[in-house]
Amino acid sequence: MSKICELLGCQYPVIQGAMGVICNPGLVAAVSEAGGFGLLATAFAKDPEVVRDQVRETKKLTDNPFGANLIAKSALAEKFAEVLTEEGVGTVTVSGGSPKELIPFLHEQGIKVIAVVPTVGAARGAESAGADAIVAEGTESGGTQGFGGVSTIVLVPAVVDAVNVPVIAAGGIGDSRGYGAAMALGAQGVQVGTRFIATNECIASEIYKKIIVDSGETDTGLVNLGRFQMRALRTPLAERMIRGERGPDNFFAPAAINESWIRGNLEAGILPAGQISGMVHEILSVREIIEEMVG
Ligand SMILES: Cc1cc2nc3c(=O)[nH]c(=O)nc-3n(C[C@H](O)[C@H](O)[C@H](O)COP(=O)(O)O)c2cc1C
Repeated sequence: MSKICELLGCQYPVIQGAMGVICNPGLVAAVSEAGGFGLLATAFAKDPEVVRDQVRETKKLTDNPFGANLIAKSALAEKFAEVLTEEGVGTVTVSGGSPKELIPFLHEQGIKVIAVVPTVGAARGAESAGADAIVAEGTESGGTQGFGGVSTIVLVPAVVDAVNVPVIAAGGIGDSRGYGAAMALGAQGVQVGTRFIATNECIASEIYKKIIVDSGETDTGLVNLGRFQMRALRTPLAERMIRGERGPDNFFAPAAINESWIRGNLEAGILPAGQISGMVHEILSVREIIEEMVG
C-alpha cells in the first residue's frame, strides 16, 4: 500500500487539489467515494462556520475520509483548524507560504499536515518544520504560484531526493500517463486540480468546463497579480491582464469569484486552470477519471 494511502486512509493515492469555491462538497465526496482523497478549500471562507457547514455537507455524502486546505498566511487558519478538529477532519494541506508557524498548532490538534511547495528549499523547510508529507507543485499547475516556477518533471524528483517524507506530485496530471509518470519520478501520490473541474460533479460553470475541454496546451498563461501569479485560461480578460492593459482590480473578491467561476461571467474574473487543460477533451464523472488514472 502506498504511504500516502496509509497516511490518508484512502484506497488510491489520488488527491483532489483544493480549488477555492469550486471544490464543493459534491465534488469532494465524489473523489473520496471513488477511492481518492477529496479536499475542501478554506481560501474564500469568510468565517469558520462556513467551513463547518461544508464539512457537514460533505459528511452527508460520504463516510470515507476527506481533508481540507489551509492558506498559511490566513489570519483565520487556526480557527478553521479548530473547526476541522471538532468535525473530525484529520488531514490538511497547507499552501500559500511556509507552514512552519502552523504545524505545531495543527499537530497539537491531531491534524496531519501536507505542505504544498514549489521548490526544494521550501520542501526541506517544511520537512524540518514537521510536515508529514509534501506536495511538490510544478508551474504547469492551475492556480496561484510564485515567480520563477519549476516544472513538475524537474521538481518532483528533486524534492524526492531532498526529503524523507512521502512526496505527492501536482501540476499537469490528468490521466493514467501523468499518474504513471509521477510514480516513475518517485512520487507516492498525485494531486489533481484542473482535470476535476471538467467533471459532472464540479459546480464550476458550464462555460468554464467547456473552455477547458476546448483548450490546447498553450491556452493558459501566467497572470501577474502583484505578490503572486495565477495560471489561468487565456480568456479575453486574462489576455488583457497578461498584456498589462488591466490590473488585478478586484478579481479575487469572493463576489467576483462566484460570478466568474460558478456563474460563468467571463469579464468578472479570470479562470484558473493548468496546462493539462490541453489534454482534457470531455466532461467525465470523477469515478471515470480516477479509475482510468489508477487502472
Ligand atoms: C480553480 C483552482 C483553484 C485553486 N485553488 C487552490 C486553493 O485554494 N488552495 C490550494 O492549495 N491550491 C489551489 N489550487 C491548486 C490545486 O489544488 C492543485 O494543486 C493544482 O490544480 C494541480 O495542478 P493541475 O491543475 O495541473 O492539476 C487551485 C487550482 C485551480 C485550478
